[in-house]
Amino acid sequence: MSDTSVQARSQWSSSFGFIIACVGSAVGLGNIWKFPYIAYENGGGAFVIIYLLAIAVVGFPIIVAEMVLGRHAKLNSFGTFKKLSQNNIFWKAVGLMCIFSATAILSFYSVVAGWTLDYFWNSLVGNFSDMTFATSGPRFGEFVGNGTKQIIYHTIFMFMTAFIILRGTKGIEKAVKILMPMLGVLVLFISGVSFYNYGASDTFNFMFSFDFSTITQHGVLEAVGHAFFTLSLGLGCMIVYGSYLPKDVSLVRAGIWITILDTLIAVMACFMMYPIIFGTKMEVNESAAILFTTLSAQFNSLPGGNIIAALFYLLVAFAALSSTISLLEPLVSFIDETYNIPRKKGTIIGALLIWVIGIFCALGNGASEFFTNIALMDKLDYLTSNWTLPVGGMLISLFAGFFVSREAVKAEFTEIELANFYPIWNFFIRYISPLFVFIVILYKLGVF
Ligand code: PHE
Repeated sequence: MSDTSVQARSQWSSSFGFIIACVGSAVGLGNIWKFPYIAYENGGGAFVIIYLLAIAVVGFPIIVAEMVLGRHAKLNSFGTFKKLSQNNIFWKAVGLMCIFSATAILSFYSVVAGWTLDYFWNSLVGNFSDMTFATSGPRFGEFVGNGTKQIIYHTIFMFMTAFIILRGTKGIEKAVKILMPMLGVLVLFISGVSFYNYGASDTFNFMFSFDFSTITQHGVLEAVGHAFFTLSLGLGCMIVYGSYLPKDVSLVRAGIWITILDTLIAVMACFMMYPIIFGTKMEVNESAAILFTTLSAQFNSLPGGNIIAALFYLLVAFAALSSTISLLEPLVSFIDETYNIPRKKGTIIGALLIWVIGIFCALGNGASEFFTNIALMDKLDYLTSNWTLPVGGMLISLFAGFFVSREAVKAEFTEIELANFYPIWNFFIRYISPLFVFIVILYKLGVF
């Protein structure tokens, strides 16, 4: 990579634009679809505490580490490892694992993101006006079992993602700036409605009873895995985003904002759904679907409920879109910078590859017996959240802590008022964060 092409890398329009783009990447289906059901399955309050601990001990230090590496190397995740390790084969393999994770996640993520489009459309035209809690589950099952619809929505979503990557991210920066706060306000409003309709006490008992005896080994692992997933960590997304970052932006401040906003939305999403689950004594057997089943029937209790529902699913679709573009970007910049393939062509190749894998996921929820048995979506979700993201995050942490020159890393902590933060961060990134993840990995391997 020559110096001129390094200089030619596009940059974020402003520091605010960068933070917004990272928040866009972090806030997505992980917060609104995944977090409420894993917190529900794992008993609520105590799980949330472990999750918050994981965010503080590994999430925040590693998000800063990724941005430091990216801004320093000014390359995609594979290129960053290659350049900063002077072509070391092990670290290049780690870079490839990052690209693999992004590719694997996007292929199933795009399918779920497509579901929000269906719920948006059917809410808008009033098709859900007679939806009840009893019918919402079967309707969802029928929908995900319809192969044609699954493929169509997945295709639309991948197309939109590729289109934005081709056109540049300025537009999405602008959209996220407006739509993200709107989503926050709407989630807050829907939580209010849920509390009003079904009462708050069960939800508060659930979220604020810190009974750690309910926490299983599986729960701890899930909390840590999810911390990586929700902050878009361990796969180099933040390396790539950081590589477009001008020197004068405070990485620490950006990290703080991303972490806080992401966590806030996730916890609020629980307050939106749990009152309904408790109030209606709903059977949550298809728990992964509660974003679609639990909420869709409640909207009918509101005047103009179909419009509110449509707006809500549209905003979730946008939140997902700002995450999918951050998932496609690592692969595209990898193809572009490694094989010297022009960005346009690279985008099409990358998007097509992910689209094909996504079709196997799309048909695996009942549409085809063969693909349902393979259950690729669950497998990829499990493999990435539980393995490749935490392992990737641990190695990124060690790499930033031990293998990159101290002066170079230190120089990234430019902000005067935060200079004191460097030694603390350095200690975490060298010892605490990797050790924490390492223990979790040993746990998973059954060592204790
Ligand atoms: N953080 C996103 C979410 O919570 C998902 C994501 C994972 C995006 C990894 C980019 C990288 O929905």
